[in-house]
Amino acid sequence: MKVLVTGVSGYIGSHAALELLRAGHEVAGFDNLSNSSEESVRRVRELAGKPLRFERLDLLDAPALTRLLREGWDVVLHFAGLKAVGESVEKPELYRVNNVSGSENLLAAMDAAGCRRLVFSSSCTVYGEVKKNPVDESHPRAAANPYGRTKLDIEDLCFARAAKDPAWRVALLRYFNPVGADASGRIGEDPRGAPNNLMPFVMQTAVGRRDKVRVFGNDYPTPDGTCLRDYIHVTDLALGHLAALDRLDSFAGAQAVNLGTGHGSSVLEVIRAASRAAGRDIPFEIAPRRAGDAAAIWAEPALARAKLGWRAARGLDAMCADHWRWQKANPSGYAS
Ligand code: WQD
Repeated sequence: MKVLVTGVSGYIGSHAALELLRAGHEVAGFDNLSNSSEESVRRVRELAGKPLRFERLDLLDAPALTRLLREGWDVVLHFAGLKAVGESVEKPELYRVNNVSGSENLLAAMDAAGCRRLVFSSSCTVYGEVKKNPVDESHPRAAANPYGRTKLDIEDLCFARAAKDPAWRVALLRYFNPVGADASGRIGEDPRGAPNNLMPFVMQTAVGRRDKVRVFGNDYPTPDGTCLRDYIHVTDLALGHLAALDRLDSFAGAQAVNLGTGHGSSVLEVIRAASRAAGRDIPFEIAPRRAGDAAAIWAEPALARAKLGWRAARGLDAMCADHWRWQKANPSGYAS
C-alpha cells in the first residue's frame, strides 16, 4: 500500500516506517523536526535498503498538508505530536494547538483528498485514573493531564468523523509504555534534554550520561513498592500498526485497540533487567513520588489478538537488550 506517516522521524514513527518498508509498502513521511532529527530517516532508508521520501512539514501548515494529501494515499499513520506530560502541564495551549488543531488539519486534508483510512497513535493515558487492571478498551476515559486531554480529543475527532461518514476506517491504537529499539541498534529513542520517561533515563545512566536513576517512590501498594507499567517493545508496537493497517476494512468507523503485553513490570524490575543487559549495576536512589503517577496500569491485550491477530512477542529482557544496544552505540543519540 501507499502509506503516509506523520511524525516519521520520531521514536515510534521511525520504527513504524522501517517495518512498513520491510513489509514491502511504499512509504513517505513528514515531520516538523521540532523534537527529532532527520538522521533517523536516513538510517531507516539504510536499514530497509529502500527509498523513503521525507518532507519537512508542520501539521499547522494546512495548505501544504492539503497539497501533500492530494497526491493520493491508501492510508495515513499519524504519530506527529508533542508527548511530554510534564511539559503539557506547563504549556497546555501549545499542546492543544499542536496536537489537536494539527490533527484537525490532517483529518480535513485527508477528507478533501478522499483518503479516509487512518491509524492513530493514541495512548493508555486516555484511561486517566485506573479503576481496574488489566485495562480493556471499555475502561472509562478521562484526561489525567493536558497531554492525555489532547489524545482523548483527537480520538473524539475521529469518532465524530466516522459517525458522520461511514467511509472512515480508523484504528485508535492505545499504546502502553513503548521502550526498546530496532535490533540493529541503529535507530532508537532520543529524547531532547533530560528524559522524563524511565527507560531512556535508566539507559543514559548505564552509558554514563546521568549519575543515577531516581526511583519516584517505593511505598506504592505493589509487590516491591514501586509502580507497575506495561512496557512494550517498540518493534512489537510497530508490527501492531502493520496488523491494524492490514485489517482496517474490519474497522466499522473508529475503534480503539490496546497495544500492550498484558503484563506489569515494576521500576525496580526494569532497573534490574537493564543492569543485566548493560552488564553493570545501574545506580539508583529512592526519591519522593512523582505527582500524577498511577500505582499500576497494564493492558488487557485480548482485543488486539482477536481483531488484529497481533500479540507482543518480546519480553522485558529483549526490550532492555535492544535499548542498550542502541544506547551503547549512540551514547548521545543521533547527535553522536
Ligand atoms: C514509568 C514509571 C514513574 C522516570 C508516560 C506517558 C504516557 C506514555 C508512556 C505516551 C513511573 C517511574 C520514571 C524516572 C521513575 N507516553 N519513573 N524515575 O508515566 O507511565 O507514561 O510514558 O503515550 O502517556 O505518561 O512513563 O516512563 O515516565 O514512568 O521512577 O526517572 O517509572 O514514576 O512509575 P508513564 P514513565
